[in-house]
Amino acid sequence: MSPTNWTILVILSCAISFTFASDPDTLQDLCVALPSSGVKVNGFACKAETNVTEADFFFGGLSKPGIINNTLGSLVTAANVEKVPGLNTLGVSLSRIDYKPSGLNPPHTHPRATEIVFVLEGELDVGFITTSNKLISKSIKKGEIFVFPKGLVHYQKNNGDKAASVISAFNSQLPGTFSIASALFASTPTVPDDVLAQAFQIDSKEVDTIKTKLAPKKT
Ligand SMILES: *[C@@H]1O[C@H](CO)[C@@H](O)[C@H](O)[C@H]1NC(C)=O
Ligand SMILES: *[C@@H]1O[C@H](CO)[C@@H](O)[C@H](O)[C@H]1NC(C)=O
Repeated sequence: MSPTNWTILVILSCAISFTFASDPDTLQDLCVALPSSGVKVNGFACKAETNVTEADFFFGGLSKPGIINNTLGSLVTAANVEKVPGLNTLGVSLSRIDYKPSGLNPPHTHPRATEIVFVLEGELDVGFITTSNKLISKSIKKGEIFVFPKGLVHYQKNNGDKAASVISAFNSQLPGTFSIASALFASTPTVPDDVLAQAFQIDSKEVDTIKTKLAPKKT
């Protein structure tokens, strides 16, 4: 092969690998998750097909608003492979998010998925930040959709005086959620105060105040 052909081949294979940025494609009809198997694979091991039932593909948990019992005023109810074993290897999942008036789904990222939200009820201010630090934001209302590209920090806030809710779709069976404030100020063990004080240009007393407020509630 000539050097030019090699160059073309390398560019093509890079381009192809970039198109597989979401969960890998499936190699069989179904692979219902069997988390109890203990076998470590990329996802979950498959249940024997004789043991597969319709219950593996069903979840009724998004039919009603979740009960919001936190200070942020929003609740995510996930319908991912942990709730719907039949989603294993299929590369998609949904969530329902409910918001009280003024409720916030705080800035977070999904390392494995792009998200698209569809507003069921109410109005929300939503936005994401690109890696060049540009905020892309908009107010969206019932029946409208908004996209949060894979891996980018994003949020939704209900600035209305009525409850709001959305359905979110993901191109991953388990998108993963990395909540920025809680990752930095409520990890175990905690991030050292001097790191946070320097990063946020505040003093360590202020760091402690935030850490105390965000600490996981003891039950
Ligand atoms: C089906 O499930 C039963 C009960 O959990 C289990 O004992 C059996 O081994 C399973 N069948 C196969 C083929 O894995
Ligand atoms: C809040 O609700 C969730 C899910 O409904 C429940 O698991 C949790 O225990 C509740 N927390 C409090 C503090 O009531």
